[in-house]
Amino acid sequence: MNTTSYGFVLISWLLLLAFTPLGIYSETKHNLVKMTLVQHAVTQGAFCLDGSLPGYHLDRGYGTGANNWLLQFEGGGWCNDIESCLERAKSRRGSTKYMSKWEYFNGILSNNASLNPDFHNWNRVKLRYCDGASFSGDSLYQNETVKLYFRGQRIWKAIILDLLPKGLNVADKALLSGCSAGGLATFLHCDNFTSFLPETTSAKCMSDAGFFLDIRDISLQHTARQFFEKLILLQGTEQFLNENCTSSRYYPYQCFFPQYALPYVKAPYFILNSAYDVFQFHHNLVPPSTDLRGHWSRCKNNPAACNLHQLTILQGFRFEMLKALLFFYEYSKTGGMFLNSCFAHCQSESQDTWFAADSPRVHNRTIAESVGDWYFERRVTKLVDCAYPCDNSCHNTIG
Ligand SMILES: *[C@@H]1O[C@H](CO)[C@@H](O)[C@H](O)[C@H]1NC(C)=O
Ligand SMILES: *[C@@H]1O[C@H](CO)[C@@H](O)[C@H](O)[C@H]1NC(C)=O
Ligand SMILES: *[C@@H]1O[C@H](CO)[C@@H](O)[C@H](O)[C@H]1NC(C)=O
Ligand SMILES: *[C@@H]1O[C@H](CO)[C@@H](O)[C@H](O)[C@H]1NC(C)=O
Ligand SMILES: *[C@@H]1O[C@H](CO)[C@@H](O)[C@H](O)[C@H]1NC(C)=O
Repeated sequence: MNTTSYGFVLISWLLLLAFTPLGIYSETKHNLVKMTLVQHAVTQGAFCLDGSLPGYHLDRGYGTGANNWLLQFEGGGWCNDIESCLERAKSRRGSTKYMSKWEYFNGILSNNASLNPDFHNWNRVKLRYCDGASFSGDSLYQNETVKLYFRGQRIWKAIILDLLPKGLNVADKALLSGCSAGGLATFLHCDNFTSFLPETTSAKCMSDAGFFLDIRDISLQHTARQFFEKLILLQGTEQFLNENCTSSRYYPYQCFFPQYALPYVKAPYFILNSAYDVFQFHHNLVPPSTDLRGHWSRCKNNPAACNLHQLTILQGFRFEMLKALLFFYEYSKTGGMFLNSCFAHCQSESQDTWFAADSPRVHNRTIAESVGDWYFERRVTKLVDCAYPCDNSCHNTIG
C-alpha cells in the first residue's frame, strides 16, 4: 500500500468513527469479552510480576462447539533481567492492574462463523500474559525494597485449574494456541496441557509466530540464545523443560527453543509462521546493536527497499527455518504447517490475516482453512510458500 492510499484508508476510518459510532459499537460489542481474575491463585502463589492476580477472558461456546475448548496464550515479548522486569511489572505486560479488562476477540477467537469458520462456537479463552517469560518460570526476586514474582508455571496451572470445573474437564476437542511469546509458550506447555484432560479428549497445539530460531545475528553473535539464557536463569525455567530434550543437549537451556523442543512433544502440532518473521528479523537477525549506522532501517520497514545483500541474508534466514522444520515436515504424521513468505508476525489473531477475502494464502488456502483442515483431519496440511517476493497474497505492510 503506498502512502496515498494509506492516508485515504486512515481518513475513511476517521470519518467512519466520527459519523457512525453506534454502528461500529454494536458490531464490535459482540466480540468484547470480560476478564476473569483467578481468585484462588493466592493460595497457589500464582502472581503476575508485580504480585497482582493473573487473569483470563472466557467466551462461552455454543451449539456443536459447546464442549470444545480453545486456549490462547497472549504474547508480548519478554524481560530477562531485574531492571527490565521491574519496568514490565509497572505495565500491562506485567500486571493485570494495568490491563484492559475487556478484550476484542478477533481472528481465531472470533465468535462469528463467517469470520472464523471452525472455532467460532468453541469455548474460547485468552490467557493474559504477565510473568515476562512465556509462562515458563518459578522463582522470586526480593530485597528490602523490591519484590518480583516469576510465577509463569503457577499462573498456567492456576488458570487450568480454574477452567477445568467450567467444562474443560469434559472437553471433547481442545486446542492450545498462542502467538509470539505466547506461541513459544505452547511448546513449553503442550504436553502438560493434555495431561490435565481426559484421554478421550482430542487435544492438539498450535504455535503462531512462536518458532524462534537459535540463530546468529548478522555480526555472528548468538543474540537470541544469550537473551533466552538470561531469562531462563533469572526465572528458574530450566527445571521445567522436557527432560528427554535437556538430557540430549550440551546446553540444556537450549530446549527453550522450539526447534529442539518440538521433536519431544507428543501431541499433534501445527506450526504457523512467516519464514521472514518480522520480530525475529528485527530483534534476533538484525538487532539494533548490529546496525548502528542504520543501513537496515529502510529494509526493516519495507522489504521492497532491501538491497541484494540484505535479501540474501533474509533468504538465509528462511533457509534456516526450513532446515529447522525439515524433520517435522518430513516425518510428523500428525503435524501441520503453514509457513508463508509474508513479512508478518502473528497471523491468527487479526481478522485480515486469519480469514478474509484478501488474506494471505498458500496453495490458495487461507490460514483459517489450513488450521481447520489440519485440526479436523480434513486433509494433510503442510504448506510451505515459495520464497519472497513470489507470494502476491501478502500485504507486507510492516512497521
Ligand atoms: C459476522 O461477520 C459478517 C462479516 O463481517 C457480518 O456481516 C455479520 O453481521 C457478522 N455477524 C454477527 C452476528 O456479528
Ligand atoms: C533492590 O534491588 C533493586 C533492583 O536490583 C536495586 O535497585 C535496589 O537498590 C535494591 N535495594 C536494596 C536495599 O538492596
Ligand atoms: C504441569 O505443569 C504444572 C505447572 O508447572 C506442574 O505443577 C504439573 O506437575 C505438570 N504436570 C505434569 C503431568 O507434568
Ligand atoms: C521421555 O521418553 C520416554 C521414552 O520414549 C517416554 O516414555 C517419556 O514419556 C518421555 N518423557 C517426557 C517428559 O516426555
Ligand atoms: C482459490 O479459492 C477460491 C475460494 O476460496 C476460489 O474461488 C478460487 O477459484 C481459487 N483459485 C484457484 C486458482 O484455484
